This record gives sequence, structure tokens and C-alpha cells, in this order.
Amino acid sequence: MEKKWWHQSVVYQIYPKSFNDSNGDGIGDLQGITDKLDYLKELGIDVIWLSPVYQSPMKDNGYDISDYHDMAPEFGCMKNMEELISKAKDRNIKIIMDLVVNHTSDKHLWFKEAKKSKDSPYRDYYIWRSGGADGSPPNDLKSAFGGSAWEYDETTEQYYAHLFAKEQPDLNWENPKVRDEIHKMMNWWLDKGISGFRMDVIDLIGKEIDRKITTNGPHLHKYIKEMNEATFGKYDVLTVGETWSATPEIAKTYSNQDRQELSMIFQFEHITVDWDEVHSKWLPKDLDFIKLKKVLNKWQTKLGNEGWNALFWNNHDLPRVVSKRGNVQEYRVESAKMLATLLHFMKGTPYIYQGEEIGMTNVKFENLGDYDDIEIYGFYREKIKEGFTQKKIMEAIWENGRDNARTPMQWSEEKNAGFTEGSPWIKVNPNYKEINVAKALQDESSIFYHYQKLIKLRRQMEVIVYGSFNLICEESPNIFAYTRTLGKDRLLVINNFFEQRVNFILPKEIKYDTCKPIISNYSDASYLPDYMTLRPYESVVYLLT
Ligand code: GLC
Ligand code: CA
Repeated sequence: MEKKWWHQSVVYQIYPKSFNDSNGDGIGDLQGITDKLDYLKELGIDVIWLSPVYQSPMKDNGYDISDYHDMAPEFGCMKNMEELISKAKDRNIKIIMDLVVNHTSDKHLWFKEAKKSKDSPYRDYYIWRSGGADGSPPNDLKSAFGGSAWEYDETTEQYYAHLFAKEQPDLNWENPKVRDEIHKMMNWWLDKGISGFRMDVIDLIGKEIDRKITTNGPHLHKYIKEMNEATFGKYDVLTVGETWSATPEIAKTYSNQDRQELSMIFQFEHITVDWDEVHSKWLPKDLDFIKLKKVLNKWQTKLGNEGWNALFWNNHDLPRVVSKRGNVQEYRVESAKMLATLLHFMKGTPYIYQGEEIGMTNVKFENLGDYDDIEIYGFYREKIKEGFTQKKIMEAIWENGRDNARTPMQWSEEKNAGFTEGSPWIKVNPNYKEINVAKALQDESSIFYHYQKLIKLRRQMEVIVYGSFNLICEESPNIFAYTRTLGKDRLLVINNFFEQRVNFILPKEIKYDTCKPIISNYSDASYLPDYMTLRPYESVVYLLT
């Protein structure tokens, strides 16, 4: 496997609408991001993944793009974007853009034209079908946001396909003109100096809608290879695909260097371990910890040299990990650090989602009306019909709703957490006086400095980047421990995943001459005995030689 710069990098995801508002309109913006570059430099990250900033009616906060070549006016203009790229570059920070090309907005010029008539030159840019004899939709495919994946259009009396909201019509990837337009657009962005793409629901583009095949369709890899060849393959960039349906075998087809497709993918098996088979994240079960370990172990060991992992707990679609897997009552700081260590010492490229580095938590709005997310409302309508009680619905939203990740970044204890001078587009989490950046920066034992140290260590120790992974204490119902080995260096990573104290016994096969703790979440971590009692969420990493 050829070494790449992104093997050693840490990526920070920014959700622009919620990051930092520079002009008091209550909406985060590009200037606001530029203003915080020094903060990100201090944290030490190498790459920013920018969630969509393109022109958009914002039905899905920018994941519905109406012009790929211009910025959303609420975020700023192209000059702001160019300035962000160049000021980031001055600080050695690269920027990757969100590439949302499974669908466009219904306000995109292509769709507006396509709708006008069956003879429009843009008609075939989208997926149109006639309904059944009784006027019913072409088939029973469902949209991810609830209801049918088909919307009837009166003008031409046909249905168009949308796997997400009806305002997000799916592009017809079988049309070579569509692929060509997208390639041109990607090259246009690459020429502007960006360093890669995060590819939104990319596993859907090879679909065959009539056979109801959506993910991993027969044309998927052909299109990705073609894209690589026509665009980013000529640049030294990072590409990461969002692929909810990937298995390790599938991951290799994307990220094996010999195949010239993508750098890596986001897989979600460790996220969905507690989802319900029927109601998915809206009826979560208790965590099966052993299963979580098995899943992560599988991903760590199966790719070998034929692929590369993206490591993450959080993004803009997921609940805050410290609420989900940690303990926000008594051990917020300890558990946030433990989760960070556990992830950052695995093999792969780590991603940090804005606010994770200060341990931001889920939010609990009592009124449905305080939520904004299109998915939450789609879910609400659907589950009310299915007979869920109001209470059960609110509990599901509190646990897994996407707005948990989208409340404004908590910068300080000032009004609106220092996010805006005006009134924020979504309410700030009321715990901002306790949890904020200013406070974290003043406290050398904060979660922030723990992340900073993790990032520094990755730069200093090759074993963190390339060491082979080996899970230990596999059967332990409390401990998540593993080793990483490269040449003479071996890391021993021990995490108590729960609040209960638990004994750790060093497996006999692990032998060493010297042993040095390199990071921990209790200040008095000691030398490794053969037997030790781990305190609540205790996490410690040793270098064994
Ligand atoms: C991806 C995005 C999500 C969006 C969806 C449709 O899953 O991460 O935020 O709603 O695609 O674009
Ligand atoms: Ca603004």
C-alpha cells in the first residue's frame, strides 16, 4: 500500500449553518468559518470537510443544491469561499467539499427545464416514469424521509423519482450527459484549489429504479471509476464516500488503491448496531456492547492492505456520541475522552464533528416546533400514522434526531453561546454556559486538549497510523482494549466503556521490556501492572517496547 498524506490526517467536519455567524442574521456563514481558522489550527486538524455551502433552497440544509457553481447567499459569496480556501491554505489546512450528486434541488435549472415538457433537452437528466393505469406511482419504493419515492408532476403527467424529499429529485446517472456535467463541475472546484470531496449517498448512483435496486446498483463502480479518471484521479486529493450499505468486502471495492476509485468510505455498521430492524433509528434498542466490539474489530482487521477506514462517531446526521455512548450526567469529560481515545487509536483516518472536541451533547426540546430537520417532520407524520404515541416519538427524536448535532456551536458563555449576535436559526443547547470553547481553552484538562494531544500523537507515532490492529479481552462485557503493532513498537489501548469499575488483566501473550503511559483520562495514570482496576470510563494507552 502506497503511503498517502491523508493516512496521517485528522479531518474536522463543519456544518456551516451552525458553526459561526459573522453578520448577526442568526445563520452561520463562510466568513464565520474563516474567523475561526486559528481555533482549528490550535486544535491541530489537517483537513476541513465542509458540509454543503452551495446555492440551495435549504429544504435539507444545503443537501438540495440549486447551483453547484455559486454559494448560498446566506453563507456568503464566491469571494468568501476563495478567501476561506486561501486562508486555510496559509495555515496548512486543506478543504474538502461535500459532493451531493445523487440528486439536485427541484429549483436547479436542469430540473426546472426538465419539468417543462417531455421533449426538454434536460428531461433525461432526471428519472421520469408513467404511473399505473389507476394513476398509482410506478412502484412502491419509499423515500428516506417518509412516503413514496415518486412525485406526480401535473405538467407532463408523469412521476419523477426522489429517494429523499420531493424537493430533491434524483439525477439520472445512466445519462452520459449528466455524468459529464458533474465531472466538469468537479474539475471546476478542483481548479479552485480544494483538496477533495465527501460524496453524499454515493452508493445510490448506480441504481436501477425499475428493479427497485437502489444501493450498490450494477453501475455504481463503473461510474465511480469513470469519475476518478475524469476528475480527481489527476490530483493528490482525499475522497470519502458515504455508503450506509457497505460491508468490508464492498469497502475494498471502493478503497483498494489498485482499483483507482476512492480514498476511503464511511461505513455505518458501528452506528446502526442498536437500530431496530423495522423502525431503524426511531426505535433504538439497548447497546449490545460485544456486538459493537465485533463490528469494529471486523472493520479494523478485514480491510488489511486492500482498503482504508474512515473513523467517526459523529456527523451532522447522528446524535452526539457523548450522549449516545458516554455519560453526560456524571462523567461527561471522562467518557468523552475515552470515546475519543478509543477511536483515534484505531487504524484509519479520524473525523471530528464540530463541537465533539468540547464534548457537546444532545439537546432535548419539549416542543416539536423547536426542531427544524425535514427528516424529523417526515418521521413524525409517518409514525403518527403507524400508531406511535406522541411521547414515544419525542423520545426517539431526543435520542436519535439529526438536530442533536445541528444546534449552534458553543463558543462562549455569552448570549447565544457566542454563535450569533442575532437570533439563531435553531435554539442553542441550554447547557452552553457549562460547555463551551472559551471554557475548554482555559482548562488544561479539558476534552479539547485531549483531542489536541491525540492529533499530535498521530503525527509523532507511525504505529498509530500504520500499526496492525489486534482486539484483546474480546469477551469482556465492559472493556474495549486492543493493541497496535508496528515493528518494535506496540501500543496497548485500554478503555472501560462503562461507569462500573472493572478489573483489567493483561493477557499472558503480551510481553514487554518497557512500558510508558502516553495518554489517559485520569491525571494519575500509573505504570502498567499485570492487574489493574479501571475507574469509570477510564482510558489509558501505553507504549510497550
Ligand atoms: C446524506 C446527508 C444527509 C442528507 C442526505 C440527502 O445522508 O448526510 O444530511 O439529508 O444525504 O442528501
Ligand atoms: Ca450569517
